[in-house]
Amino acid sequence: VAVDLQAVHDFLIQIAHEAGTMILTAKPVAAGSGTKKNSADLVSETDQAVEKMVSTRLKAKYPDFDFMGEETYKDGDTLAADTPTFIVDPIDGTTNFFHAHPYLCVSLGLAIARQPVVGVVFNPFTRTLYTAIKGQGAHLTDPWHEHARLPLRAPEALRDLSTCLVAVEWGAEREGNDYEVKAATFRKLCLRKEEGGAVVHGIRSLGSAELNLCGVAAGWLDVYWEAGCYAWDVCAGWVVLEEAGGRMVGCHEGDWEPRVEQRRYLAVRGGEGQRGVIEEMWGCVQGRIEVG
Ligand code: IPD
Repeated sequence: VAVDLQAVHDFLIQIAHEAGTMILTAKPVAAGSGTKKNSADLVSETDQAVEKMVSTRLKAKYPDFDFMGEETYKDGDTLAADTPTFIVDPIDGTTNFFHAHPYLCVSLGLAIARQPVVGVVFNPFTRTLYTAIKGQGAHLTDPWHEHARLPLRAPEALRDLSTCLVAVEWGAEREGNDYEVKAATFRKLCLRKEEGGAVVHGIRSLGSAELNLCGVAAGWLDVYWEAGCYAWDVCAGWVVLEEAGGRMVGCHEGDWEPRVEQRRYLAVRGGEGQRGVIEEMWGCVQGRIEVG
């Protein structure tokens, strides 16, 4: 069945604005959850209310499509191979939401045959909207830009990892193998070259996977490396990233073709030198991530 991707894209933008209004007017209240890992694993009632609104609207208009959302996901759910699936994070950056930190977004993606094909990422605080349809480019609309094509300028060459601004995220894990691998990898990125490190320009941990991907797409981040996030944390931004010339690969050496459900990613912006930076970044990973 041919899907009108433009119509999906336009509808997702409408819903993203509605969700944004809900987020802006809500007071963060923790939702009861029996499965929390620790005090850093947060869910608010607004996450649940926004997802309910989004899924209701999408199911009414696209009754034959599947839906995967952060709040209704059950362990073991996988993406259907043959049914288009909406992949939704009602609030990507829930921890920031609790702290009124304005780096968060509603993230609405569509995958067909398990490939992300439409992405809409909206930060209601800054009114920043990133959108993309596979094969049609990525765009930014905000108070200063009206549907500007990404990246905003021709990307400068990526010389090497030492000249990069690198986003990483801790996620909610605070113990175990993956936590140790992350901590050692972050440290390595900052170590001097003589010690095998890269001395990157800086490390950012801003709290929203989707906005990080869009930041790499726009060019105000060069690299984003994370393990532990889910399909809804990356689906929409993945389309924006690749349509802006960025590249998504896996977080370990040699993984050039990651799947959207893989939970281990490395995104590098467009520009000459992209491949070299991917390989250098892989070289800094201190061990094997197990999740996914
Ligand atoms: C989280 C954010 C965070 C990332 C986590 C995600 P949520 O999403 O994207 O930056 O480190 O892995 O789970 O829980 O705020 O939707």
